[in-house]
Amino acid sequence: MIWVIGAAGMLGSDILQQIKNYNLPVCATDQECDITNTQTVENFLQSQKISCMINCAAFTDVNGAEQQKEKAFAVNARGPEVLASAAQQYRIPLIHFSTDYVFSGNKTSPYLETDNTGPLSVYGESKLAGEKAVQENCSNYYIIRISWLYGVNGKNFVKTMLRLLAEKPEINIVNDQYGSPTSSLYLGRNIAGLIKNFSGQWGIYHYADEGIITWYDFTCAIQELGKKYGILSQTAALKPVSTGEYPTPAVRPAYSGFCKNKIIKVLGFTVKPWRENLEEIIRLLAG
Ligand SMILES: NC(=O)c1ccc[n+]([C@@H]2O[C@H](COP(=O)([O-])OP(=O)(O)OC[C@H]3O[C@@H](n4cnc5c(N)ncnc54)[C@H](OP(=O)(O)O)[C@@H]3O)[C@@H](O)[C@H]2O)c1
Repeated sequence: MIWVIGAAGMLGSDILQQIKNYNLPVCATDQECDITNTQTVENFLQSQKISCMINCAAFTDVNGAEQQKEKAFAVNARGPEVLASAAQQYRIPLIHFSTDYVFSGNKTSPYLETDNTGPLSVYGESKLAGEKAVQENCSNYYIIRISWLYGVNGKNFVKTMLRLLAEKPEINIVNDQYGSPTSSLYLGRNIAGLIKNFSGQWGIYHYADEGIITWYDFTCAIQELGKKYGILSQTAALKPVSTGEYPTPAVRPAYSGFCKNKIIKVLGFTVKPWRENLEEIIRLLAG
């Protein structure tokens, strides 16, 4: 039985659905099984015959983490530690997700799994601590770093922008942070495929949709496709601005493109152009 943890979240819900589509045996928990509580996790593992754990639970409020450091570290670092220790004890593989925000963004070419980390925010620090906890406490793990996640479920950039584009005549969008969107739905398909054919090859992997763009580029495409699929009727004026003109509590990396060669070659993941995946999600949101 595959255990999807944090299954009510954006990524967890897509992974759960994709595993169900493959007719694989699966169970799911969210807040009711608190990953920071060793006994709760232990009780769950004793109640089910679990063959694989997929941890999608996290504290994902990047700006909020600056004020709630303790909570961010509890869920993003202590939680993975508890899960990794349990995975080791029960000899179960653990799939865990991390983020491009573990990097400083000082590079100008795609980040490799072996590149030095250097988080700029509390969220990034807490996720990096979670990676280390997984590496130190279990041997059979995949840590998959992803960036700019969006999907049909949950709160995310695409849904926020579709709302703002419908409401406002003009929007300022940051045009000097470069990265890659990641469709939660398409990633979910890759994860379901991975579980069907576990190959070992444990370690850290980078994954995102193909193409490195700015938030401004992404928003232009969201508007174009939102109009194409009838979600938007008006055209808002989009104004490219610098990070300095749009300050946020958490500092983000200026560049966080990923090299995906390892996950493609070793784990057999497929990667689609970001715009194709965006079109699929907007089509689904249009209903
Ligand atoms: N979102 C992004 O842009 C992004 C980018 C890069 C990487 N990631 C990583 O991708 C993974 C999935 O992110 P996501 O956006 O799908 O997250 P999400 O939508 O915020 O989902 C996380 C889920 O975990 C639950 N949760 C929080 N604390 C928990 C605890 N102690 N025990 C059990 N469940 C708990 C949350 O419940 P509540 O909602 O009630 O708190 C939520 O249902 C995370 O590891 C995240 O760090 C996300």
